[in-house]
Amino acid sequence: MRKKIIAGNWKMNNTPLVAEQFINEIKGSINTDEVDVIICPNDISLQTVEEAIEGTYIALGAQNVYFEDKGAFTGETSADMLLAVNVKYCIVGHSERRQYFAETDEMVNKKAKKLLEKDIHPIICVGETLAQREAGDMFTIVENQVKEALAGIEKEQVKRNVVIAYEPIWAIGTGVTATAEQAQEMCAFIRQIVAKLYEETVAQSVRIQYGGSVKPNNANEILTMPDIDGALVGGAALTNDFVAIVNYEK
Ligand code: PGA
Repeated sequence: MRKKIIAGNWKMNNTPLVAEQFINEIKGSINTDEVDVIICPNDISLQTVEEAIEGTYIALGAQNVYFEDKGAFTGETSADMLLAVNVKYCIVGHSERRQYFAETDEMVNKKAKKLLEKDIHPIICVGETLAQREAGDMFTIVENQVKEALAGIEKEQVKRNVVIAYEPIWAIGTGVTATAEQAQEMCAFIRQIVAKLYEETVAQSVRIQYGGSVKPNNANEILTMPDIDGALVGGAALTNDFVAIVNYEK
């Protein structure tokens, strides 16, 4: 049985002060260990959130990492820096990073490998644009993204430590959610790709989230689909809606 994993991606929102206040507001209502709950603040707020979540059921995630260990890479954050503040998960290859910061599949792969080397779970994002879906290319696009992101990663790592997030770009921040059936279809397809790349036991263990306009009113339907093991939540993670999503009807 795969444990569900619900992660809140705050994106470029919340100063440390707001972050702390918000965690204090929600932490008492997140009292289940049936679900892994992750909050991914901006780097500036990581340490504050780390302190605020102490003794709670919330774990810390980051939104990005650089794949080199250290050196002259102005503006970047290393995996060791994330480890220093107890980051357990890190999003890689979010579509906003691919779109606005020219992140390629190769970079996503290097980042995922670096995180695994440091015992941080990568949450690898994949997903097609609306044009790609309308052209019927979504399966090819997602298959390539998954293959390239996982290139050279050992099966034990995929089995135990990798999380994949299917995030159709047309559903992110738009209020348009993929139907639960569309989300299930693609998550099942991703699981098949993992089975082909590795073996069935790996596919049955890897956790695959759906992300894109997940809200309290659709969380239940999405999260009870057989191949959807959780959600990556953007906008709704900034409000009390996040609590309602975590406490969806299991
Ligand atoms: P959204 O964002 O929930 O605001 O659509 C999801 C994401 O970008 O991970």
